[in-house]
Amino acid sequence: MNSSKKIKWGIVGCGNIANKFASDLALIDDAELVAVASRSMDKASEFGQQHDSEKAYDSYDDLFLDTNIDIIYIATPHTSHAALSIKAMEHDKHVLCEKPLALNKKEATAMIETSKRTNKFFMEGLWTRFNPSLIAIKERIDNGEIGDVKFINVDFSFKTDKSLDSRVLDLNLGGGTILDIGIYPAFLVYLLLGVPKEILAKSIFHKVTKCDMQTSMIFHYETAQAIMYSGFASKSDLIARISGAEGEIHLHNPWLVAQSYSILKNDKEQLFELPTTGLGFSHEIIECHNCLRADRIESTLWSHQNSLDLISILDRVRKQVGLKYPQEH
Ligand SMILES: NC(=O)c1ccc[n+]([C@@H]2O[C@H](COP(=O)([O-])OP(=O)(O)OC[C@H]3O[C@@H](n4cnc5c(N)ncnc54)[C@H](OP(=O)(O)O)[C@@H]3O)[C@@H](O)[C@H]2O)c1
Repeated sequence: MNSSKKIKWGIVGCGNIANKFASDLALIDDAELVAVASRSMDKASEFGQQHDSEKAYDSYDDLFLDTNIDIIYIATPHTSHAALSIKAMEHDKHVLCEKPLALNKKEATAMIETSKRTNKFFMEGLWTRFNPSLIAIKERIDNGEIGDVKFINVDFSFKTDKSLDSRVLDLNLGGGTILDIGIYPAFLVYLLLGVPKEILAKSIFHKVTKCDMQTSMIFHYETAQAIMYSGFASKSDLIARISGAEGEIHLHNPWLVAQSYSILKNDKEQLFELPTTGLGFSHEIIECHNCLRADRIESTLWSHQNSLDLISILDRVRKQVGLKYPQEH
């Protein structure tokens, strides 16, 4: 891609996260929001005006047909990620798709195959992977600063007052904690320790919608273990604690969009502050730009294989707790 040209973005789905993403997109000098699409014209127009988009469509398909767009950000419920990403790539667009990449490994595999077949850049929007504190601690751990990682304790839980028909509680839309927020602790542990040898997990389910309301997970490795928790019923402290043979690292609250971290070693604690730019989405946007300008179809920081491994881990968690989505029956 020509390095002097701005990269032209389209956004599909004008909901909560699309709104935050668009405000960070405006911070990136070589990014331009050229079109947004919603199922409703009013919503698309309002969102488009708020974020200075050239065009607003009341149909996702119309946005896919717009030849002025380089890359599309998919910000719809999990259950539509696969179909929309595939359609976008087949319309010659690069794609950044919100996490979770898909409902399950089968869908994710089809999406990645499409990226290879169409030669289009494709990445899961796992923004935490590009968080400055996370990048720093990964490098320190890889350099052996806390010795071999032996134990990780990490959670993501808050009390939700969402109504029964909300996306997060609706099993038909992939609702429940596992894909919405459990994915983050699972991601951190996978990033630092790899694919677990064994997984133990238990969930408590919503009485009406049957989605998981809280899930506890243990990932077991040859020489390390991790305990993780995701919940919609109570608040957790949102600190990630990584314990190595020679020291500890804490990613501070809220760890998934950490603004700082500490190293605890030899009875001393050192604090490092690394604020995000904007809300924290800018870092994944810059990674997309770097990949597009280098004509790459995947990121080396969060590769297709990384996404496939993560969704496969979540498939294993769901198998343990006995959770299937209606689309899988
Ligand atoms: N990276 C992060 O920090 C983060 C945070 C929250 C969510 N997410 C991910 O982003 C995705 C969207 O989450 P969100 O919180 O933004 O959800 P949301 O507020 O409900 O927005 C989702 C949007 O998707 C569109 N949509 C298409 N089909 C839909 C359907 N059947 N039901 C409801 N909405 C539908 C709607 O846009 P239109 O009406 O405009 O068509 C809706 O506004 C999820 O996959 C979630 O995991 C990521």
